[in-house]
Amino acid sequence: MDPFSKKARAEGYRARSIYKLKYLNKKYKLIKQHDSVLDIGSFPGSWLQACKDFRAEFILGIDIKPIKNMPGVRFIQADIENDKIFEKIKAIKNSFDVIISDVAPKTTGNLDKEKSLDLTKRAYEIAKVFLKPDGNFLAKIFQGGGVEDFVREIKNDFEFVKLTKPLASKKRSYEIYIVTKGFKIEK
Ligand SMILES: C[S@@+](CC[C@H](N)C(=O)[O-])C[C@H]1O[C@@H](n2cnc3c(N)ncnc32)[C@H](O)[C@@H]1O
Repeated sequence: MDPFSKKARAEGYRARSIYKLKYLNKKYKLIKQHDSVLDIGSFPGSWLQACKDFRAEFILGIDIKPIKNMPGVRFIQADIENDKIFEKIKAIKNSFDVIISDVAPKTTGNLDKEKSLDLTKRAYEIAKVFLKPDGNFLAKIFQGGGVEDFVREIKNDFEFVKLTKPLASKKRSYEIYIVTKGFKIEK
C-alpha cells in the first residue's frame, strides 16, 4: 500500500485523494470556513470529508455512485451528463462559493482521456451556472489533446488560473488540477 493510502486509512479518510485537496487548499486557499461547496464526482467521499475539515458551512456532493451517509453533507446520486442535474441541484441550492470536481471515468486499464475531458467540461458547464461571482473552481484534468482549448476558455472567465500537480498525484499519471479563483462572469 502506498504511503498516502496508508495515511488515509490511519486517519479515517475514505480515499488517498483527500491529500490532493488538502495540499491544494493549503496552497491556494480555495475553500474557507463558512463557504458553500459543490463537489462533483464525490464517491467515496474523501473530498467531502476535507470540506468538513475546512469547516465549509454547506456541502453538496454528486456522484453516479451512492456514497455512505456522511452527517452534515447533502448528496445527489445522479449522472452529471443528464440535463436533469441542473434541476436537481437547483432544488437544493442556487449558488456556491466554491465548486470542485474530481470527476473521472471508470477505468479498466487505459484511461479514456477524451471521455475524461468531456466529463470535466461538463463539470465546468455546471459550475458556470452555479458558481457565485468571484467564486473558485477546481477540477481534475488529464494532460492530452483538447486540454489547451479548455484551459484557454477558463482563463477568460477567472482572475487567477493555475495548472498544478499535487504531491499525492501519482507521478506516472497524466492527472493535473486546474485551480481557478475569482469567477468573472456576471449573473
Ligand atoms: C476519482 S473519483 C472521485 C474521488 C473523490 N474525490 C474522493 O476523494 O473520494 C471520480 C468519480 O467520478 C464519478 N463519475 C464518473 N462519471 C460520472 C458521471 N457521469 N456523473 C457523476 N459522477 C461520475 C465516479 O463515479 C467516481 O466516483
